[in-house]
Amino acid sequence: MAKIPEEVIETVRTATNIADVVGQYVQLKKSGKNLFGLCPFHEEKTPSFSVTEDKQIFHCFSCGRGGNVFKFLMELEHISFPEAVVKVADFSHVDLDSEYRQDASTPATNSKTGQLIDLHEQAAKLYHHILVNTEGGQAALDYLHDRGLTDETIETYQLGFAPAQRLLKPFFDQRQADYQLLRQSGLFIENQQGDLRDRFIDRVMFPLRNASGHVVAFSGRVLKPTEDQPKYLNSPETTLFAKSRLLFNFDLARPAIREAGEVTLFEGYMDVISATQAGVRNGIASMGTSLTTEQIYAIERTTDTLNVCYDGDTPGQRAIERAIGLLREHSHLNLSVIQLPEGQDPDEYRRAHGDEAFRQVMESAKETPIRFQLRYLRRDRSLETDSEQLAYLNDAMPLLAQVKEPVALDMYLGQLATEFQLDKAALVAQLKQVRQSSAAVKERERHQRQPVGPPPPEVPDESGTVLVQQQRRPLNKLERAERQLLYQLLHDRNVWAKIESVPNFSFVHDDYQMIYTLAQGYFQTHQVYQSAQFTDFIQDERLQQLVIELETTISLAAVTPREIEDYLSVIMDQAPLEAKLRDKKRALAEASRLGDADQQRQLVIEIVQLEQQRQANKQV
Ligand code: GTP
Ligand code: MN
Repeated sequence: MAKIPEEVIETVRTATNIADVVGQYVQLKKSGKNLFGLCPFHEEKTPSFSVTEDKQIFHCFSCGRGGNVFKFLMELEHISFPEAVVKVADFSHVDLDSEYRQDASTPATNSKTGQLIDLHEQAAKLYHHILVNTEGGQAALDYLHDRGLTDETIETYQLGFAPAQRLLKPFFDQRQADYQLLRQSGLFIENQQGDLRDRFIDRVMFPLRNASGHVVAFSGRVLKPTEDQPKYLNSPETTLFAKSRLLFNFDLARPAIREAGEVTLFEGYMDVISATQAGVRNGIASMGTSLTTEQIYAIERTTDTLNVCYDGDTPGQRAIERAIGLLREHSHLNLSVIQLPEGQDPDEYRRAHGDEAFRQVMESAKETPIRFQLRYLRRDRSLETDSEQLAYLNDAMPLLAQVKEPVALDMYLGQLATEFQLDKAALVAQLKQVRQSSAAVKERERHQRQPVGPPPPEVPDESGTVLVQQQRRPLNKLERAERQLLYQLLHDRNVWAKIESVPNFSFVHDDYQMIYTLAQGYFQTHQVYQSAQFTDFIQDERLQQLVIELETTISLAAVTPREIEDYLSVIMDQAPLEAKLRDKKRALAEASRLGDADQQRQLVIEIVQLEQQRQANKQV
């Protein structure tokens, strides 16, 4: 693939608003000048991820990641810089010469991950080919057709068939695939001699794609379930595939989720596929297990509304109840439950009633989680005697206590009062008691959770390396001055000229000095400073993050020449002291290596003196 020239990169960059690209993955809300959302790079409950449109950069105040639009995609999708440029170009409809994109549509095939993905995608193609084009796949194809899937759907999901005679191994042998790679793919079973055999035989194959749409694993379903083998067999966990993270169909559903403003969580793959075919395209499924917190966070980043549509049978109901609890505890998602009648699962419902009825029921059967839970509480209860009724009401109260909207609460209470012929006022009084006692419990817990002991010690760093974010520590006066000055230098040509004229100027911390030096190079070829462009120029990841941190934490409010002078003198005063300290520490390390005790004692005394002096200069 040809190297992409800088003009082309610039064209792509200027044709794109970073907020639109990030918005595909993160739900952003305006707050002041910036957009905020939940960071896609780590789990969090309160948004610390920001996008600054006028600078075209993103920054997470919590994990410290940051950069321009290319960097965002590189980090999120684990792709290279040129691949990110191609992706952004496609997003913004910039025509790119084909020479830049040759390999970019497939993942970086030189990386291990890329090779494993490549292996999976080849396997998916092979299984799909067997299903749709060969005699051996006919029975499986008939089965899928019988289940009401169209050829288009089978194509969209690249469904396939692994026949009884093993053929994946010979297929890859013919292509001289690397043995270790095959071993690690999870597509094979290894015997004691280290021979590999196809893991999946005689199964309908469902490729499992990651959030970027690459096949990372398979789930294989037997055509006719029997007692002695699992209905679905999944790939084992590999470097590509973690069951707890993957959400089936998340890649294909994402545009529909954004459009609808909500996502629908199904229990099985077949439900998702069936729903898609009926035109309900915002469906996803977890991997047959209950939802994990990782999956919840991934969902929450994309939307704020989730419908749970599990099977109508008893295990399905139990799973809904569990999911509601989990989602309440770990997210702020607005929840609905979609309850299908007659104990059917969504796929059965669609086949019994058709696509149109399916689409309708997905709306009409929506209910609040409380309504679902009130009904769930009644299962296996006859509610015929007073004591049964009282027990039910007792269990219902803590649920109602969670309802914050007065109108909704009034409605539920009214319905209960009518049904059990009670005075609504009595229910209200009991609810109040429940609320008070649960508030008391919370308060006790809160007190117990107060941290004890002194705060963790502040770790000074003497290396000349400044820490980026992660270990947030208060900045001392020197570092504040360095950051301010560096920022003003980059943004204001007058300040730049002024500092250039100071003889022997240098920043105390190496990182700031390094950025300054890089900026000198940048300004040789660029007239104006643009942070989103400068970070590409820098290349070094840590320094990039540092620049982004400056860009998002310091504002370009006009500073007076006087302030610049102040920053400068703080730095110039401190510089010799810091340099001396560093020298002494190096000497001390050397002395202890040589076992020179006298020298060590002497140096320790000097270091302590310097530290004291430094402490005196420093007013945090
Ligand atoms: P069909 O039976 O073909 O309609 O598939 P389904 O997707 O409706 O499956 P079902 O409702 O029985 O199960 C829901 C999900 O649980 C499936 O999509 C799988 O993810 C998972 N699952 C079901 N059976 C097994 C099994 O035997 N092993 C494993 N690992 N997962 C299973
Ligand atoms: Mn099913």
